[in-house]
Amino acid sequence: MKKFIVLTIFFVAGLFVLDQILGQDPNRRNLDFSPDMAQSVAHKSESPNPYFVNGQTQQNPVPGTIARGFKPLPFGSSVEESVRAGEQLFYPFDQQDPADLERGKRMYQIYCQVCHGAGGQGDGPVTKRGYPPPPSLLLENARNMKDGQIFHIITNGYKNMPSYRSQIERRERWLTVAYVRKLQEIQP
Ligand code: HEC
Repeated sequence: MKKFIVLTIFFVAGLFVLDQILGQDPNRRNLDFSPDMAQSVAHKSESPNPYFVNGQTQQNPVPGTIARGFKPLPFGSSVEESVRAGEQLFYPFDQQDPADLERGKRMYQIYCQVCHGAGGQGDGPVTKRGYPPPPSLLLENARNMKDGQIFHIITNGYKNMPSYRSQIERRERWLTVAYVRKLQEIQP
């Protein structure tokens, strides 16, 4: 016990002495012990860099890298590719979830209705003003399309129809497919 007290006194005294030595001048830098990489050379991302074999700071991702949260869609934009997407992509959620259906309906109203019409019959307002009217989504042709094909059509466009890839995020494209299916429950 005695030993411990003596040691503690020495330790506290040591700290006091150190403080006296180091903490005197507030304008002086602290003691820089083993600075190693504290002051590393920073290269701007677009600047040349002598440390990499290709001489650039910003490195390319390793081939085959997939960004976090980004699932690639390995399909071209042709009609044949849309058929292939129909064979390979499947509706990923519960097709009857009321909240999802509501969201899909909203997406349809915002993005599709203008051409395809509120009921999907191809009679949206722009078709009255010169835009080529799309075929009714209630007809056999669209009914027979697989979910994945309609998803592909929304993503990449289809003949006269533009792509909605950048306007509607992936999940909501699927929800729109579910709403198209809902519309198709009504007979033409
Ligand atoms: C700017 C007008 C326009 C918008 C907006 C639009 N489409 Fe289309 N869509 C068309 C046209 C035109 C066609 C027919 C393409 C052709 O055959 O040339 C078509 C075709 C389709 C087809 C294939 C139908 C068939 O029987 O061949 C589907 C499915 C479809 N659209 C779904 C959608 C969905 C879902 C949306 C909303 C995300 C949407 N479209 C938005 C114009 C549009």
